[in-house]
Amino acid sequence: MSNSAEIKINGNTYELPVIKGTEDEVAIDIGKFRSESGVITIDPGFKNTGSTKSAITFLDGEKGILRYRGYTIEELAEKSSFLEVAYLLIYGELPSEDVLTKFKEDISRHTLVHEDIKKILDGFPSAAHPMGVLSSLVTSLTAFYPESLDPNRSADEVDLSIIRLLAKLPTFATWAFKNEIGHPVIYPKNNLDYTSNFLQMMFGLPAEEYEVDPVVAKALDQLLILHADHEQNCSTATVRVVGSSHASLFASISAGVCALWGPLHGGANQAVIEMLEQIQADGGNTAKWMAKAKDKNDPFRLMGFGHRVYKNFDPRAKIIKKAADDVLKKLGVNDPILDIAKGLEEEALKDPYFVERKLYPNVDFYSGIIYRALGIPTEMFTVMFALGRLPGWIAQWKEMRENGEPIGRPRQVYVGNNERSYVPMDKR
Ligand code: CMC
Repeated sequence: MSNSAEIKINGNTYELPVIKGTEDEVAIDIGKFRSESGVITIDPGFKNTGSTKSAITFLDGEKGILRYRGYTIEELAEKSSFLEVAYLLIYGELPSEDVLTKFKEDISRHTLVHEDIKKILDGFPSAAHPMGVLSSLVTSLTAFYPESLDPNRSADEVDLSIIRLLAKLPTFATWAFKNEIGHPVIYPKNNLDYTSNFLQMMFGLPAEEYEVDPVVAKALDQLLILHADHEQNCSTATVRVVGSSHASLFASISAGVCALWGPLHGGANQAVIEMLEQIQADGGNTAKWMAKAKDKNDPFRLMGFGHRVYKNFDPRAKIIKKAADDVLKKLGVNDPILDIAKGLEEEALKDPYFVERKLYPNVDFYSGIIYRALGIPTEMFTVMFALGRLPGWIAQWKEMRENGEPIGRPRQVYVGNNERSYVPMDKR
């Protein structure tokens, strides 16, 4: 394997260093190429551009591999818990029992939010999408903890912000939902584990005791593990770029929530259910919608199919498909939308258009189905994704800052007008 690559341009040859990752991924380092040649590289959507060296998550889209800190997603989903995985992602190693107990206790102690945050929440109309509310409440933490704005804080101080964020996100998420339905917010109960506490704040009512179904809590915990990190995707790259300007952790994560919101990223799970409802309202003719998805003149895409990096299968989709089957069976859910989902899945898996383009159901296809079965309303799906992704965002932000990475600042190829004279109003 060569240690360098050559680029020939305008009669000159430039030698560029080649670097190799621990999983033998090879990259050409173009960091100094522009200063030496005056030429940049272009790659819209960063489809083939590595923005960093990272030791957090390894993903091989062709082989369908996903590992957090070296541990396979299959093993973690089966044997671990969400907070253990969060610790692993953020601090690099699986915690000992004592360390995990303390981590959980610290998080439980910080679940409550400042009462003034309720005033901010009250300012939102009930039509506000919970992702917008979530993002705003996360960034509002900079006002309640202004010391978090100091980019030179000690590791212990950063850890406290991390604990606060992990602790408060479920409170914010469920309060955003309560705002939407016009119900009073439910306060956290610190004797409950992370997902059970989330469920009681989400579905509880002040007048009655909410009983957490352990099957639901377990399924949710597993879903959060599956979403916990996914290396340099749109929202994570956003968190790193925002944080690279030395913006605070809270501001960076708030930006990540916004990036996740879109239907091509985290919003896909909401889009999946909306699509299934649309197909149902249209008479449930899946063949017609399959044809629309394949028609290049029709903007319709089959939501929950295809992935930017997984071009064979999404390993998370395999685990989640099984979880979906288990949960639906256990809860005895009978939902016509699910029959439409199954029909689409079967047809797409044997349709040459989807097979040739390697378009398989992705994690969001099944997560939407599970969330619906758990009684979580559609507009909260992306919020659930954000809850799961939080440890990954934090780990990536921390790594970027600890590595002292430079501010993110891409270049461009300008294709606009050349210099021209200002045209007075009466001549336009
Ligand atoms: N339905 C119909 N055709 C599709 C679909 C789809 N869902 N996805 C891709 N294609 C076609 C696309 O039209 C193109 O066809 P052609 O080569 O003939 O022009 C080909 O497949 C390649 O598509 P692409 O847009 O170049 O693929 P990409 O890697 O840039 O996009 C994607 C990946 C996820 C944005 C896209 O597959 C998509 O829009 N899927 C639906 C939305 C979705 O489920 N998103 C969730 C992704 S998983 C969650 C996450 O990690 O954020």
